[in-house]
Amino acid sequence: MTPDSALIKRWSPGHILASALCLQAIGEFGQHLSDAGFINRFGRLQIDDERNQALADLALGKYVDVAAASRFLGGPQPVAALLETGAATITEEHRFSLSFEVLSDGKAMAILPFLDSADDVPIDSVYAGTDTWLLRDQAWKYGLHGKRAIDLGTGTGLVAAFLTSRYETVVATDINQRATQTAQLSRELLPETAKSRMHVVANDVASGIHPGTFDFVCVNAPWVPAHRADGRIYSQGGETGFELPRRFILEGTELLAPDGTFIGLCAELTFLDGSNPLRDLIEDFGRRGFTTLIESTPAPHPFHAAANGTAETLPGLESARHVTVVIHRTS
Ligand SMILES: C[S@@+](CC[C@H](N)C(=O)[O-])C[C@H]1O[C@@H](n2cnc3c(N)ncnc32)[C@H](O)[C@@H]1O
Repeated sequence: MTPDSALIKRWSPGHILASALCLQAIGEFGQHLSDAGFINRFGRLQIDDERNQALADLALGKYVDVAAASRFLGGPQPVAALLETGAATITEEHRFSLSFEVLSDGKAMAILPFLDSADDVPIDSVYAGTDTWLLRDQAWKYGLHGKRAIDLGTGTGLVAAFLTSRYETVVATDINQRATQTAQLSRELLPETAKSRMHVVANDVASGIHPGTFDFVCVNAPWVPAHRADGRIYSQGGETGFELPRRFILEGTELLAPDGTFIGLCAELTFLDGSNPLRDLIEDFGRRGFTTLIESTPAPHPFHAAANGTAETLPGLESARHVTVVIHRTS
């Protein structure tokens, strides 16, 4: 049973997952987008044929004629089901729009739910940003061989979906139920082989997952200090912003099979007293026989966005940079 749309305040990916007609619509949509070569890396939109403009508009969450929507979403019944769940809206002029956009790199696709308001970002919002694409590109560079991969803190599931082109089994985890449900929905967009390879589970970091079993482990960890993160699950990294990345690094590397590789995006903090918790942690991995690397990313300085325009710092912080940590288990 789907909820009465008049009662819906915020559409839930869970409602779509519970509706066979909605799932049919998402599957059809994914097929059309793959066939059209749809790519959407935040603004870098590409579609192979101008006749597919309505399809691209629909995937960007823009209004299209309801007849066109119906063509790409499997007919009037799935369209009605999407409207009923609140995952789409329709105007009196029969203009239809989805309440999400589709991200795509041409291989992988994922659903990114729109926020109701840019001023009111709920703590369980599902995140995708420029660093999502950074993680995807680093996964392409470092996720080179093996059978099993895991994307910790998967968000929309985009990077996990991408990894299905390289790995037979891909696990996507997140602590946020809205994220795991969204990743499940993203999975529905994929072709059958990719879909059968991707498994979404709710999890706190790597707890309960069998150690030593993954050839590739990746995470785009939340790294924002608590006083700046407003409790948002996707950004809050602990008091200094490094507490949660530390857990992802320690628990994520436990999952590595011999010859496996871990990559993690986070902030590297250097304090005035010379301490640098990330460097200390990585040096310890080096002493334990892992091969390690800390690579600067092209992302902006993590602490640049202070409300007053100055670099807002933690007490005693000298500098911070956004990095990719690479840890390879040699044996
Ligand atoms: C910066 S977002 C990255 C999302 C996605 N990987 C991407 O790159 O677009 C961090 C993700 O970690 C998840 N997360 C936060 N705390 C977590 C925890 N303790 N265990 C698992 N996932 C967590 C958040 O819900 C969020 O989806």
